[in-house]
Amino acid sequence: MKVLSNYSLKAHNTFGMDVKCDHFVLIEHVEDIRSAVRDELLQENWYILGGGSNVLFTHDYKGTILHPTFKGIETVDENEDGALLRVAAGEVWEDFTHYCLQHQLCGVENLTGIPGYVGSAPVQNIGAYGAEVKDCIDHVEGIYLDTLQDFSLSNEACQFGYRDSIFKNSLKGKCFITFVYFRLSKKGQFNLTYKALSSALEAAGLTPSLENISHTVVAVRNSKLPDITKIGCAGSFFKNPIVPKAQYQDLLERIPDLVSYPVDEEHVKLAAGQLIDKSGWKGKQLGNAGIYAKQALVVVNLGGATPDEVCHVYQQVIQDVQNLFGIQLHPEVNIL
Ligand code: EPU
Repeated sequence: MKVLSNYSLKAHNTFGMDVKCDHFVLIEHVEDIRSAVRDELLQENWYILGGGSNVLFTHDYKGTILHPTFKGIETVDENEDGALLRVAAGEVWEDFTHYCLQHQLCGVENLTGIPGYVGSAPVQNIGAYGAEVKDCIDHVEGIYLDTLQDFSLSNEACQFGYRDSIFKNSLKGKCFITFVYFRLSKKGQFNLTYKALSSALEAAGLTPSLENISHTVVAVRNSKLPDITKIGCAGSFFKNPIVPKAQYQDLLERIPDLVSYPVDEEHVKLAAGQLIDKSGWKGKQLGNAGIYAKQALVVVNLGGATPDEVCHVYQQVIQDVQNLFGIQLHPEVNIL
């Protein structure tokens, strides 16, 4: 392992916040986790940071950041129908989706282009274009930080929900995910339930295949989401709110084109982007931060924004949507 002290996190968060942490530990091998936790110097406030694409640092981080860099994609089991892959936490998600494309393995194609590391994917159950990573996770392995014991959690035990899992709840800050096991198919069963994806394929005259879906997903993403190498952000800043059907009906009277997705008998999910858009925030700027002009779900650093400027924008958006529509938005991004 390598320990860097009083270390700048600017290159380790896609929002580009210029903050520091007390210690930044490169976890180069799984065993480094135990060494780091046992190290006297590092005994304080752990945070595990992958690609830094779903986090907003609001000030210097008082504590130790553990950053996995160990990589590896290994086939554990394979037959004519599919394969079970063991993927290390430090693999870049995008490299993993490319690997699946190269090896003609289906399951993560709708999730092409999502920034971040494989170890972070189960934490917030990353999702896009009708798919969620939980749909192809077999189980997750890791180490509990208090006992340093290994764990293996089945898909069910991970308690996956919409942008949610046990790792954001009872196990928050308590474990280090080391390997994620994915069950992928060779049978070409594609998920085209998301209208924007199926329409884009159709409009381009493309038949559903692994290549065509991956390329179309990237094209649709690029048309709506900022290029994180150029504009600081963390993707969707807010979760789409889940509300009781009665509240949805009331709001529908005020907003006839209100977008909703079914959840269960009593609830529907609304599109936070649409509510923010209708509150007039799309493309608006406050200081050096603002709301992305092509997708209102995204809070952006327009260049040199301070954490306070970013916080001001997202808090103001929450307040305006609450005042206008009576809907409480919740950040999807981890705010530290
Ligand atoms: N909409 C607007 N104005 C906007 C943005 C959206 O009216 O500025 C409307 C759209 O017209 C559409 C609806 O809201 O009818 C939903 O928008 P979109 O299809 O763009 O998807 P989303 O709900 O905004 C979610 C995920 C994204 C994911 C896309 C595609 C969340 C919080 N976000 O966005 O995830 O890429 O679906 O599946 O669930 C992320 O998590 O970082 C992320 C980008």
